[in-house]
Amino acid sequence: MEGQGKQVTGYLLFSMGTAVIGSLQFGYNTGVINAPEQKLRSFFNNTWVERYGESISPGVCTIVWSIAVAIFSVGGMVGSFSVGVLANRFGRRRSMFIVNSLAVIGGLLMGFSTICSSYEMVIAGRLVIGLFCGFFTGLTPMYVGEVSPTPLRGAFGTLHQLGVVVGILIAQIFGLEALLGSDKLWPLLLALTVAPAVLQCIFLPFCPESPRFLLINLKQEEQARKVLVRLRGSEDVSKDLQEMKEESAKMAQEKKVTIPELFRSASYRQPLLIAVMLQLSQQLSGINAVFYYSTGIFDSAGVKQPIYATIGAGIVNTIFTVVSLFLVEKAGRRTLHLLGLGGMAVSALVMTISLLLKDTPVMSYVAIIAVMSFVAMFELGPGPIPWFIVAELFSQGPRPAAMAVAGCCNWTANFIVGMSFPKLVEWCGPWVFLIFTAFLIIFFIFTFIKVPETKGRTFEEISRVFSGAPPPAATPTEAAPAAASAAVALPGSPEKE
Ligand code: GLC
Repeated sequence: MEGQGKQVTGYLLFSMGTAVIGSLQFGYNTGVINAPEQKLRSFFNNTWVERYGESISPGVCTIVWSIAVAIFSVGGMVGSFSVGVLANRFGRRRSMFIVNSLAVIGGLLMGFSTICSSYEMVIAGRLVIGLFCGFFTGLTPMYVGEVSPTPLRGAFGTLHQLGVVVGILIAQIFGLEALLGSDKLWPLLLALTVAPAVLQCIFLPFCPESPRFLLINLKQEEQARKVLVRLRGSEDVSKDLQEMKEESAKMAQEKKVTIPELFRSASYRQPLLIAVMLQLSQQLSGINAVFYYSTGIFDSAGVKQPIYATIGAGIVNTIFTVVSLFLVEKAGRRTLHLLGLGGMAVSALVMTISLLLKDTPVMSYVAIIAVMSFVAMFELGPGPIPWFIVAELFSQGPRPAAMAVAGCCNWTANFIVGMSFPKLVEWCGPWVFLIFTAFLIIFFIFTFIKVPETKGRTFEEISRVFSGAPPPAATPTEAAPAAASAAVALPGSPEKE
């Protein structure tokens, strides 16, 4: 970027790294409940025997188990939906600090459940941890998006998903019987989420408040300038400041945006539709059918050591998120999302074939390859992009409300897939992944027609694409011509460079 010096500093990386601890927590708590299922079930039974002098019936045990799993997403829905209010009231940094108390409460509830002989504490802990994760699926992408330099916003935006996948992988590994997934240690496995929360609270005071929040929401220009100078490692932050001021001026004309207003205003309709559809494309792709139930899928495809195949999927998941991080500023969001959805649709077809022909010996390998490529394609686009593109599609005013709506849709779809997949398998057997293939095709077509490229554009330019307004004549920024052509060619056209 001309007119500005160094862009990526150790301080910027430290600040984003601290925020991404929240994403790691989301991944960890998503993956952690899988491995110790049997241990938890016998704990429920032991508590029942202690209290009522008889074993828990299998039906009741399954209900308690399903609640413990699913209530996490319910917490997520509530947390993600409330993020806007919190982030605007307390700022991004203080909100992260406050929300960490939920991780401590949730972790302790689960950790002490066996000592207190209370399975209710596991359920309550999962709810509180879900709330906490819901908040962070909004807070991390928002904070990272707001401190990133424009040309690297996509690459850094992918860091949220990288945190998630590393968290899942850590949970899969720690959950092994030989580590923390044992009869005795599983409460510690669940309580471990307290440690990153404490770590983040230690680091947060050294991180800056988002400069956009300082300037646009609090009107503290001098503070914002100081933060930018430290983040960018250069005294010349005029361009960043200029861009924020333009956004601020625009905001002064349109009041602060609440969720009902977001739905009412015609100018937000397009970006809101895109944000919600992209979140749905992430979840209805069926990714969590794989992450919650992969061991069972591998098992039915005849794989001998399914748990290791599951960890293999976690590793592929992590590697391809890194690949996406490096590709996203070159290939663009739209292209990668399309590629990912298309690749997943093909992988889901191959997976179906392997499940149908599972008696053919080679098919267990085909199943493994299909699952791995399904996961790899997911991480190219549909995994990371929906999380950060919402922050890109909206300017400062409507951004928190939009993140709340999008995040809540994501969690709701996650909940639906998680709850319904076992039933769908019962009904559809080996054909089950064709349901996801159908969704993937629909979302591919939608993305192709509706989603514009946001790579390299400032928040201001992106929102202008949707409003259809011409770029301001008086600001000769380098990207103005791109915005102008985009405003004409809106919105499905591939980016012009
Ligand atoms: C995304 C999804 C999450 C999923 C994960 C898998 O972050 O939101 O539900 O488990 O990717 O990597």
